[in-house]
Amino acid sequence: MARTVLTEPSRAIAEFRLLPGLTRPDTTIDRVSLATRLAARPDGRGWVSLNIPLVAAAMQAVSGVAMGIALARHGGVAFVYASQPVAAQAEMVRRIKHHKAGFVQPLTVAPDLPIAQVAELAAAKGFSTFPVVDDQGRLLGLLTRLDYAPARHAHLTARDRMIPRDRLVVGREPLTLRQANDLLMDSHQSVLPIVDAEERLRDLVFRKDIENHLDHPDEVVDERKRLLAAAAINTRDYRERLPALVEAGVDVVAIDSSDGHSCFQADTLAFARQAFPSLPVIGGNIVTAEGFRFLAEAGAAGVKIGMGGGSICITQEQKGTGRGLGTAILEVAAARDEWQRRTGAYLPLIADGGIVTAKDMVIALALGADAVMLGRYFARFEESPTEKVLINNRVMKPYWGEGSPRARAWQGARYGQAAFAEGVEGYVEYAGPLRDNLAETLAILRSALCSAGAHDLDELHREAVLEVVSALSIREGQPHDIHLPGTATGLAAKTWGV
Ligand code: IMP
Repeated sequence: MARTVLTEPSRAIAEFRLLPGLTRPDTTIDRVSLATRLAARPDGRGWVSLNIPLVAAAMQAVSGVAMGIALARHGGVAFVYASQPVAAQAEMVRRIKHHKAGFVQPLTVAPDLPIAQVAELAAAKGFSTFPVVDDQGRLLGLLTRLDYAPARHAHLTARDRMIPRDRLVVGREPLTLRQANDLLMDSHQSVLPIVDAEERLRDLVFRKDIENHLDHPDEVVDERKRLLAAAAINTRDYRERLPALVEAGVDVVAIDSSDGHSCFQADTLAFARQAFPSLPVIGGNIVTAEGFRFLAEAGAAGVKIGMGGGSICITQEQKGTGRGLGTAILEVAAARDEWQRRTGAYLPLIADGGIVTAKDMVIALALGADAVMLGRYFARFEESPTEKVLINNRVMKPYWGEGSPRARAWQGARYGQAAFAEGVEGYVEYAGPLRDNLAETLAILRSALCSAGAHDLDELHREAVLEVVSALSIREGQPHDIHLPGTATGLAAKTWGV
């Protein structure tokens, strides 16, 4: 017979509720901190820390350059997907690391380019400001929307219509966004060109962008003030992938696998420790204490928990393997605490797969996770790499699993070698820019910590009291016994939890 059969059912996140604790002056919503540890730096050099406990899943439909930039600017991090060629992934990481908020890499034109062609370029690109540079890249002047009229000036060149360099206010590197802002405010320009010591054009800063970029108190950066960047790797091509990612400046990587309790993860971790001793490598996914201890002993910098719960996941249906995420976190968090008592080392835990709403995040964090990894949640936002589509008059974005036929078309992918699908492909409703959605989610998390009487996630881990709820009590907690719009009244439906 089987070695062990557990007859207590494993529990989903949705089966737990957090009981309130004493709210104190230091646990009010404005004083609560959501800062967290994502991974331990090897050799006890501290932590890769985030200012919010949300990370974006390593998936083709979720974590590209735009998501990497937007999420790091708001305090989290996106794991750039590994289901693509090494060079393409490294380039994505490089673009995140080189991003300078508010500094735009300009498209330049040569001085003798006819205005008719400048106008064509503007129509094709959707913007109309072009710096004019010589063949060494040195700034000669600037063409903005006000400086040329396509028909009237068609016979002239860029040089004829540009504002020449000597009449421009120009910033010189190195320059912070705030300094660029000050220069712009005193100029009469809508855009500030930035040049280097040799007068070569580097960036443009637009007046209209500044407000948007100055105020990001939660932004997470490295010691050189570059945005934090994370990426996924796999247990097959890590000998080529890891060096390329490190070269590109990656700060932390996670091994992307549906089953991390595997000797191949230990091999990957051993290689990373030896080749890149200061790079934190997160292992996973696991759902048992045994799996956790295996990865901790193999040198993982953090551990990802979850198997079978993802919104696009059919692993449980296909293979019968998996575990309710609530039970998995509970068991692994206990093993992590025991590991800390034994070795003195704290290993951050990331709960991954099937986390839908802010309340799910609250429960996952209270059960012991340090961060939550989300696919579906982020796939809905403007910054995910997919195009919007209109279906039945609703704006949607496609979302597919890394084990779906679509992702597996790239053979190196997470499930690329399996002869069957472990994921599906579908759509999620478009929800607008990350910034707007995140604000509400974080407000809910802060409010939950406040109710629990915890001023940060450490205190939540120490003090949280949770309870399993019955199906009836879940029902009691939903709107009931009133006419909701969309039912008897025929008004537009309010959808809960999607
Ligand atoms: P979601 O937040 O519920 O959409 O789940 C996202 C998580 O599902 C990812 O972080 C992965 O751990 C997992 N995942 C991604 N693709 C697949 C798949 O094709 N099959 C099973 N799990 C997947």
